[in-house]
Amino acid sequence: MNTMQPCGIEDDDRQPPMNGLLEIAQRGLGLKPKRLPSWLFYDERGSALFEEICEQPEYYLTRREIALMDEHAASIADSLGSDVRLVEYGSGNARKTSQLLRQMHAPVAYVPVEISPEPLHQSVERLAREFPSLPVQPLCADFSKSLRLPIPPRASRRTVVYFPGSTIGNFESREAVALLRKIRNEMGDAGGILVGVDLKKDPAVIEAAYNDRAGVTAAFTLNMLARLNREIGSDFVLSQFSHRAHYNPMAGRIETHIVSRCAQQVKIGRASVAFREDEAIQVEYSCKYSVEDFAAMAARAGLAVERVWMDAKKMFSVQYLVRASTVAR
Ligand code: AVJ
Repeated sequence: MNTMQPCGIEDDDRQPPMNGLLEIAQRGLGLKPKRLPSWLFYDERGSALFEEICEQPEYYLTRREIALMDEHAASIADSLGSDVRLVEYGSGNARKTSQLLRQMHAPVAYVPVEISPEPLHQSVERLAREFPSLPVQPLCADFSKSLRLPIPPRASRRTVVYFPGSTIGNFESREAVALLRKIRNEMGDAGGILVGVDLKKDPAVIEAAYNDRAGVTAAFTLNMLARLNREIGSDFVLSQFSHRAHYNPMAGRIETHIVSRCAQQVKIGRASVAFREDEAIQVEYSCKYSVEDFAAMAARAGLAVERVWMDAKKMFSVQYLVRASTVAR
């Protein structure tokens, strides 16, 4: 019998308490060049701004991924098979997940993994309402760390880790390989990874997506400084910094920076950090892949690409990865 509490969020108590923010900022701003981790974007305001980015005309990623799911969710669900436990990394916007779950055959459970309790709660409520008979087992944890997945309500044929949205693009290739290898271990022999991957295309199109005319992406980027001011008491003056996002064609990625408009000093805890005019803090990579690039990276993690789906404009892909030795030929 299943007496799962749909909203009973399991807390992964091995996570360090979230008070290391000052240390993280001090360490990152002490590097040369300066660097802050991109997960710092996603406080409440940052998450709301990201939702707004997804609606900007230039930000094609979300629209193309939703169009892809409209067209291919049934085919994807067939590839996953029946009695799957679906684990989602970063349970962000439940829209794509609904598109998938609606087509899946007798899913065993849905396990959203998300570090911020608020968005986790929201996505759980939304999905529990739409899929009242589906056991939902939320896990509040950092998906880049090793996870203790909740015990499923019944035996599953396989565990599939769903990692949509091109979030994998935020990791440099060595980190992405390490993350894929970690998932490979967690999903077991029969498992799979369903990952959203943004594709290489005209650099002007990519660059525009990270420099929308309405300035929402700029606000999203600079919100990281507002967050630090609020949470660690730093004194960044937001108007003295600007957003810069360039496509690096050699590396195949958008590189986002916060650039100091003038020479200035910023207080971070007890220390003071000096900025030169035009000095940049590197805050995000958004890597773009060809189908071949991504297959090569998956191979380094012991994975094989079993199938690739693309939207009609071939701008975005969703790829199904399995353990390299188990690919059907
Ligand atoms: C949520 C990581 C996929 O890199 O495209 C959007 C975040 N940053 N605009 C991306 C983001 C600036 C986004 N991901």
